Amino acid sequence: MFADIHHLVSKKIVDIPKSAIHEMTRLSKTVDDVAFLSWAKPTSGTPEHIKQAAEQAIREDKTGGYSETAGLPVLREEIAKKMKQKNSINADPQEIIVTVGAIEGLSSAVMAVVDPGDEVLIPVPGYSTHIRQVVLASGKPVLVPTLEEEGFRLDFNRLEDSITPKTKAILYSSPNNPTGAVYSEEELRALAEIAQKNDLVVITDEAYEYFVFDGGRHLSIASIDGMQDRTISCFTFTKTYAMTGWRVGYLHASQEWIPQITKTHIPLSICAPVVSQYAALAALTGSQECVDDFRRHYQKTRDLMCRRLDRMPEIFSYQKPKGAYLMFPRIELKGEQDSMTFAKKLLMDVHVSTTPGVAFKGEGHVRMSFCVPETTIDTAFDRMEEYFS
Ligand SMILES: Cc1ncc(COP(=O)(O)O)c(C=O)c1O
Repeated sequence: MFADIHHLVSKKIVDIPKSAIHEMTRLSKTVDDVAFLSWAKPTSGTPEHIKQAAEQAIREDKTGGYSETAGLPVLREEIAKKMKQKNSINADPQEIIVTVGAIEGLSSAVMAVVDPGDEVLIPVPGYSTHIRQVVLASGKPVLVPTLEEEGFRLDFNRLEDSITPKTKAILYSSPNNPTGAVYSEEELRALAEIAQKNDLVVITDEAYEYFVFDGGRHLSIASIDGMQDRTISCFTFTKTYAMTGWRVGYLHASQEWIPQITKTHIPLSICAPVVSQYAALAALTGSQECVDDFRRHYQKTRDLMCRRLDRMPEIFSYQKPKGAYLMFPRIELKGEQDSMTFAKKLLMDVHVSTTPGVAFKGEGHVRMSFCVPETTIDTAFDRMEEYFS
C-alpha cells in the first residue's frame, strides 16, 4: 500500500488537474496498431549533420562541464544573427539566454515577471503548459477566448475587458498550439498597443515560427516599435530542426531583463545541455534545407488532412491552419461534445489517437497533428470514415 501523502503536497500542485494529454498517451500504449495524430512532436529524425556535430563535440571532450549560464558565447552570436535576419529583432548576444527548450525559457520568463496573484492573459484554446507555468509561479491565468469562426483570431474586446489592476502580462503562442492560427501583423500591432497602454509584459512562444503556410509570414511582436523592452520572446530548436529530445531553445529580452531572468534560469537548469548547444550551433550554421523540407511536408500533410476532413462534415468542422502542424476540428456529431470521451472512443474503437480539446481549454474539439507521414493520415481517416458511415 502507498502512504497517504496528499496532505504533504503543495495545494497549488494538488489542484493542478491531471494532464489529458498524458492520459491519452498512457491509454494509447494499451492499444495495438494506433494511427497517431496526437503528438505535437516532429516524427522525422534530427538531420544527420546536427547529430554529427554533437558526436564531434563529445569526442573533442567539449561537453563534460557546464557552459556559461547564458549559453556558449559562439551559439549566442549565431542566435543574434538569426534573430536579426528572421525575426527583425536587433538582438545583441548579451540579450540572449540559451534555455532547456522553449519550455524552460517560458518558465524562467513567467517566474521573472509574476508575483503571487498577478494575472496573466492567455488566449484560448491555448497550450496548457502556459497555464500551468503561470500557476506554478503563483499567478492567476486569465483565459481569453479567441474568435473561432474567424480562424481563432484574437478577440481584442475580450482582451481589453479582461484587464484589471492586477494584470501583469500576456502570454501566447503564434503559430498557435493547438489551433494553427498565426497572428497577423495587424493583430500583433493591436496587441502591442494594448500592452503599451496598460504597461503589460508580453511573453511569446514562437516554437513554430518556421512553419507558416501559403506564403504567410511569422511576425515577432518584439520587432514592433517600442515593444523590445517589454517583450520576452521564447524560441526553440525542437520543432525547426526536429530536435525534441535535445532540449535546447533560447529566449531574448532587453538587457535590463536579462540579469533578472538569469535568477530564475539558474535554479531551473544552471545551463542548457552543452552537447545540445553544440548540436544547436550546427543547426544554425549548417544548411537550412531541412527546414524548408519540413515546411513543404507539413503544408502537404495539412492539405491532405483538410481534404479528408472535408469528406466528413457531419462529424467535424474546422478552421484551416495557417501555421504550426496542428489543427483543432470541432466535433459536430450530436451528443459527442465531451472531447475526452470522444477521443477515448476513437482510440479504443478504431485505434486513432487524437488529443481531447479539453486539454487546451477548447472543449468540443479534438487536436490532430499533421507532422506525420501521409499514410498515417490516410489510415486514421479511412478508419474514422468507415466507423462513422
Ligand atoms: C507551443 C509550444 N511551445 C513549446 C513546446 C515545447 O518546446 P520545447 O521542446 O522547446 O521545450 C511545444 C511542444 O509541443 C509547443 O507546442
